[in-house]
Amino acid sequence: MSIYILGIESSCDDTSAAILNKRKILANVTANQQIHKDFGGVVPELASRAHQQNIIPVIDKVLSIANISKNQLHAVAFTNGPGLLGSLLVGASFAKSFSLALGIPLIEVNHMHAHILAHFIEDDSEKDFPEFPFLCLTVSGGHTQIMLIKNYFEMELIGNTIDDAAGEAFDKAAKIMGLPYPGGPLVDKYSKEGNSSAFKFPHPNISGLDFSFSGLKTSFLYFLRDNLKIDPDFIEKNKADLCASIQHTIVEILMSKLRKASLETGINQVAIAGGVSANSGLRNAMLREADVSGWKVFIPKFEYCTDNAAMIAVTGYLKYLDNNFASQNVSPFTRYNDTKA
Ligand code: KG4
Ligand code: ZN
Repeated sequence: MSIYILGIESSCDDTSAAILNKRKILANVTANQQIHKDFGGVVPELASRAHQQNIIPVIDKVLSIANISKNQLHAVAFTNGPGLLGSLLVGASFAKSFSLALGIPLIEVNHMHAHILAHFIEDDSEKDFPEFPFLCLTVSGGHTQIMLIKNYFEMELIGNTIDDAAGEAFDKAAKIMGLPYPGGPLVDKYSKEGNSSAFKFPHPNISGLDFSFSGLKTSFLYFLRDNLKIDPDFIEKNKADLCASIQHTIVEILMSKLRKASLETGINQVAIAGGVSANSGLRNAMLREADVSGWKVFIPKFEYCTDNAAMIAVTGYLKYLDNNFASQNVSPFTRYNDTKA
């Protein structure tokens, strides 16, 4: 039987909906919110309002691209957290109403788990799926986690950031250089023209598998401040080298903990997920590690790196098969540790 799932993602500043048939994505539509650009970061209240404006047009569009009617849907899956409360509430309320009106099950999805389970979207017949157990470095604007994935629903957090997330480190470094938000993709772009060993920045000394990025941000800030005193055009003249050097440092911090996790667990199937997994430096570092250490690496397609509803839909499908449905009483949560969704 063909199972159709509608996935809805609204945890931050992207309103996204996807329709999935088994593990194949029929349509995936995202409305990005441009309004935050002027503020140098996501403004929660504006994000929530924009989700309200976007959600119905996005759902209409995804149904029309997938060429199915809402009455053919078997379930509606939505991001229940972590994320911004006002943003999550829009997706959650819509999903609840839709499931009630259509008389179909409601499925709550943990956004961070969905980033990982995006690896189980079937997009071409050649594709290999990770086998359990595998490791996943999940790196986004709000999180930096190493997870040990035991099965679709059992994931152990074995490494976490104690302060900023890797995406935040990219965005803050970009902001310090005067680049617009979100700066991560721009740092990546300018890096391609730069020398990654032009400038050296310190690596944090954090025990175990945890990360820290706030010291790096501060040393980058002081380094630029000192150099701007000598040459006011320092950033403009060295933009590509600065981007390449900071990117190289962030990627090395991530990779050194991922290597340690692989050594400690003896697991050499290693995936990356989340917005920062779109970064070319990180993707190349993973491919190099596959050559050097014999890892089997899993790197998501670009469209499934940053926030999207396809990952919510595939997680919804896996939970549907597991009869894991939510009640109308579930309410969104903002922090990863606040639920087991
Ligand atoms: O997963 P995501 O879309 O949203 C969250 O759940 O946070 O991740 C967004 C983050 C932002 O910090 C953005 O700058 C970063 O991912 N990002 C990148 C790249 N593309 C997105 N960082 C570095 N290089 C990229 N190519
Ligand atoms: Zn995300």
